Amino acid sequence: MDRIVINGGHRLSGFVPISGAKNAALTLLPCALLTAEPLTLRNLPRLADVDSFGHLLNELGVSTAVAGAKPEDYGRVMTLTAADLASTVAPYDVVRKMRASILVLGPLVARAGEATVSLPGGCAIGNRPIDLHLKALEALGAEIELAAGYVKATAPEGGLPGGHVIFPTVSVGATENALMAAALCRGTSIIDNAAREPEISDLANCLVAMGAKIDGIGSERLVVEGQASLHGATYSVMPDRIEAGSYACAAAITGGDLVLGGAPVAEMAAMLAALAEAGVTVSEEAKGLRVCATDGLKPLTLSTAPHPGFPTDMQAQFMAMLTLASGASVLTETIFENRYMHVPELARMGADIQVRGRSAVVKGVEGLVGAQVMATDLRASMSLVLAGLAAEGRTEVSRIYHLDRGYERLEEKLRAVGADIERLSDG
Ligand code: UD1
Repeated sequence: MDRIVINGGHRLSGFVPISGAKNAALTLLPCALLTAEPLTLRNLPRLADVDSFGHLLNELGVSTAVAGAKPEDYGRVMTLTAADLASTVAPYDVVRKMRASILVLGPLVARAGEATVSLPGGCAIGNRPIDLHLKALEALGAEIELAAGYVKATAPEGGLPGGHVIFPTVSVGATENALMAAALCRGTSIIDNAAREPEISDLANCLVAMGAKIDGIGSERLVVEGQASLHGATYSVMPDRIEAGSYACAAAITGGDLVLGGAPVAEMAAMLAALAEAGVTVSEEAKGLRVCATDGLKPLTLSTAPHPGFPTDMQAQFMAMLTLASGASVLTETIFENRYMHVPELARMGADIQVRGRSAVVKGVEGLVGAQVMATDLRASMSLVLAGLAAEGRTEVSRIYHLDRGYERLEEKLRAVGADIERLSDG
């Protein structure tokens, strides 16, 4: 298993190109299932999760072709064609490794009239059910059966009629499943209390490029006039706001000065406001978002919330950054239970953090010290890398396959701006 070794204490400075958004990619890829014509996605990040999703689509009969990207390029262009579907089953082996596999459920049942997807297992950041996905598809007219660890969705003769989905709580994935299915329903559907994450707007815009009719994009009510068929399209994946936010924290925690090329500034308002409150200077420049931290860090009180609130996917990275602030910060996680698994690892590096229920009190310390730490989930792993960049001495992060799921060529991007970081392979 690979490890990342960081010799900390280097101030980062320079240019970091921001890749395509993982979470947008994972909902744009299953759009290929909605049409017999080719869907070409540009700016797809090179990530393990994107590869896994491609393999899942291959199993369903979707052909995938990657256009001549050079190894040194970031991102790539993939054309996906689902002329005929070979299967409507997403097996346990694939879903177990990647929860986002559930996003084939809506498009498959809408296009093929049936879909069978293994239930995602327990997840490191808490029990993550799929009840909202299933209720949404039921509201659109699907019949749902659960048996032997699988969920089967079936459309009535002639296809899904469409309907009114009212989400009791906001769910990104369930909104995506509902939106993809609604695009191919026979009638008009309304999705209320829809998630407003920018990746949902990216999905909606891609669907529109494929011929879907959607009103209310970016709002909590989406009105979708179902179409008999969708056509092919070429669409560019939006830049990754969470990757950009993570590098912003890297600048902040090292007292550095980074320009984040292509960062989606408008979609990052809550985190940029939090960075500014922490005393970090953020400004838009021609080449990208500049993040500069020269005067030390101030403590913050932050609570995660659905977009446009502060993203849960940035909680761990901000926590790492705030371990070095000049006072006590309070972070509250409202989206996922058990999303503080980085806390004991950060404590091994000298951080002072007390968790009480959903909140964590982070008392700023003078400095962190390098240690051997273990990555537990994607964003938690990044918080350990950030801590390692600022710590005195050597930090070794193991189980970095989590990082490969969501950060395109992390070591390379960090090394280019002055970090002493390398990947060691055990074999
Ligand atoms: C997506 C993102 C993830 C991000 C999260 C919240 C992808 C691939 N992943 O995950 O990075 O952290 O949004 O912004 O885009 N819930 C239910 N029942 C359901 C579905 C969700 O109770 O059927 C709960 C979850 O347990 C969680 C909350 O709703 O407590 C929000 O989850 P959701 O927005 O669905 O997250 P994901 O789509 O899984």
